[in-house]
Amino acid sequence: MLSPVPPTMITCSDGEHDNVFTVAWTGITNTIPPKTYISVRPSRHSYEMIKKSGEFAINLTTTDLVRSADFCGVHTGAKIDKFERCQLKKEEANEVGCPILAASPLVLECRVTDVIPLGSHDMFLADIVAIDVDEELVDGNGKLHLERAGLVAYAHGDYFELGKRIGTFGYSVAKKKKKPTGKKK
Ligand SMILES: Cc1cc2nc3c(=O)[nH]c(=O)nc-3n(C[C@H](O)[C@H](O)[C@H](O)COP(=O)(O)O)c2cc1C
Repeated sequence: MLSPVPPTMITCSDGEHDNVFTVAWTGITNTIPPKTYISVRPSRHSYEMIKKSGEFAINLTTTDLVRSADFCGVHTGAKIDKFERCQLKKEEANEVGCPILAASPLVLECRVTDVIPLGSHDMFLADIVAIDVDEELVDGNGKLHLERAGLVAYAHGDYFELGKRIGTFGYSVAKKKKKPTGKKK
């Protein structure tokens, strides 16, 4: 009932086979060092791959990818090649051994530091060891414009595209700019 959450596409590999599946139980847990987590049911085909390799990548989902994200979240890689079925192009990651999705605008490459059994799911706590961003989202000053990526949210069983911006970090306490008087000094 905590909504919205990101319906991310997790890529992983056991060295022989690659897989991709959907995870909404994810988030950032620490700033320095940058850490994240994914909570995964041990019954998932991907579970052993991540446990064995100690690595995975979080690929953010866009409106163009959301149908594939849903498909990868209802089919198991034990039976089909989801990359092939969804025509998902793989790219080599920078730091981890599993592939990343070419179509994802922002990817967090992760190395597992702890596996915490919680009950239905195990939490893979991980260091974020690299971030891959589409160059088109970065302006001339190096500022990231993630709002241009077309990201989607998952809320209580439904997928949504992000709507219009209604505020900016700190805007509630920002000082108002003085209106120009029009007089020359
Ligand atoms: C929107 C969405 C969110 C999901 N979130 C999770 C999750 O957080 N953790 C999890 O273990 N499975 C989650 N799943 C289910 C897995 O993605 C699904 O069982 C998938 O088929 C597992 O693939 P695999 O067997 O190839 O590893 C989610 C599925 C969908 C559609």
